Amino acid sequence: MRIFAIETSCDETAIAIAEFSRTKVRVLSHIVLSQIPIHKKFGGVVPNLAKREHQRNLVPILLRSLKESKLFYRRKSDFQLEVRLPKIEKILEREQELLLQFQKHILSLKTPPIDAIAITYGPGLAPALWVGVNFAKALAYLWKKPLIPVNHMAGHLYSALLQKEPRNSKHEARNYKSLEFLISNLEFPVLALLVSGGHTELVLMRGHGKYKILGETLDDAAGEAFDKVARILGLGYPGGPEISRLAEKGDPKKYPLPSPMIHTKDYNFSFSGLKTATLYLYRSKIGTIIPKNDIAAAFQKAAVDVLVKKTIRAVKEHKVKTVLLGGGVAANKELRGRLNQEVSKNLNSCLLLPDSSLTGDNALMIATAAYFSGKKKAPFKLGADANVKLGD
Ligand code: KG4
Ligand code: ZN
Repeated sequence: MRIFAIETSCDETAIAIAEFSRTKVRVLSHIVLSQIPIHKKFGGVVPNLAKREHQRNLVPILLRSLKESKLFYRRKSDFQLEVRLPKIEKILEREQELLLQFQKHILSLKTPPIDAIAITYGPGLAPALWVGVNFAKALAYLWKKPLIPVNHMAGHLYSALLQKEPRNSKHEARNYKSLEFLISNLEFPVLALLVSGGHTELVLMRGHGKYKILGETLDDAAGEAFDKVARILGLGYPGGPEISRLAEKGDPKKYPLPSPMIHTKDYNFSFSGLKTATLYLYRSKIGTIIPKNDIAAAFQKAAVDVLVKKTIRAVKEHKVKTVLLGGGVAANKELRGRLNQEVSKNLNSCLLLPDSSLTGDNALMIATAAYFSGKKKAPFKLGADANVKLGD
């Protein structure tokens, strides 16, 4: 099955084309264009700027992805296009810039040999999501292909199934040429710890696409906390990578910080108190040489402690066979290492960590979730849903 996937839920414009079998995926194209340089000066993602950038970038990325995958052909002529245009104009009426590019570059293409179009429909930033959804709808209508709506968090969850073959280990995923991933077999029940900039949740799965959220953050997401603490420490955006870089040089025990909700019996999290505690610690050091490395290490330890502890408790309670980690914070080395250490003590479960090239937002993860758990939908019924949850 050959899937064409689009992801625009936040500040990455991404398209992937991938061929799936049960055990392997061959990546024909895998492009992620990050808008970080644009949002950086605002200290976070600005939704309408994200929308504008997605509108500008989707068509060029699509053309590049078809070229890379050798699925790019121009059509000679097609009188049916005239008939189809009014509906496409309607679908893209709120994305005029995208519509212009669509008319100029996409109408003249032959329908590529793909089986379905997968699209992230939520959760995420509404203006950003809608651009991708409308673009996918217009393509599905033009190319007469089924649409598969995918929950962004399902994408992060399924990203952990893709493991690089050893012979490809030197390749970056962006180095798409002939890139293949092996697909790990999932033994259920599965528990996924999903940690991103917008979400933090523990999800139990008893089958493909069957999700139950055991717990989630009551305030800030884990990634958001990393970003806010980075701002306190005067570091750049996004903060996660910067904090973990400093934390490697710091001593987490020098100024220990409390792990919020670590002793509660539920599976919920809270990171806003930890952020405030870090702020007070930082303020208490003003006037001295601020021990940023130690503060970053203490914050990271407190966050990782609670994430790992609650995950392991859920593994035991639900007799979980496979543990997955997903989302941008899954790039964090401390979290990966600690989770690995703790899961390996539990002989009945195995841990799948996403390849470091797939922890951030990308469209290959959306294609993978579509392959395993997607349900085709008629294009005109689909809308973006900024607040949708797994299992809705
Ligand atoms: O999944 P993602 O790319 O976008 C969302 O769907 O939100 O996650 C982005 C988040 C950001 O908050 C970023 O700071 C965090 O992932 N992040 C990290 C690391 N790399 C990225 N957090 C901790 N340690 C990292 N190494
Ligand atoms: Zn994400």
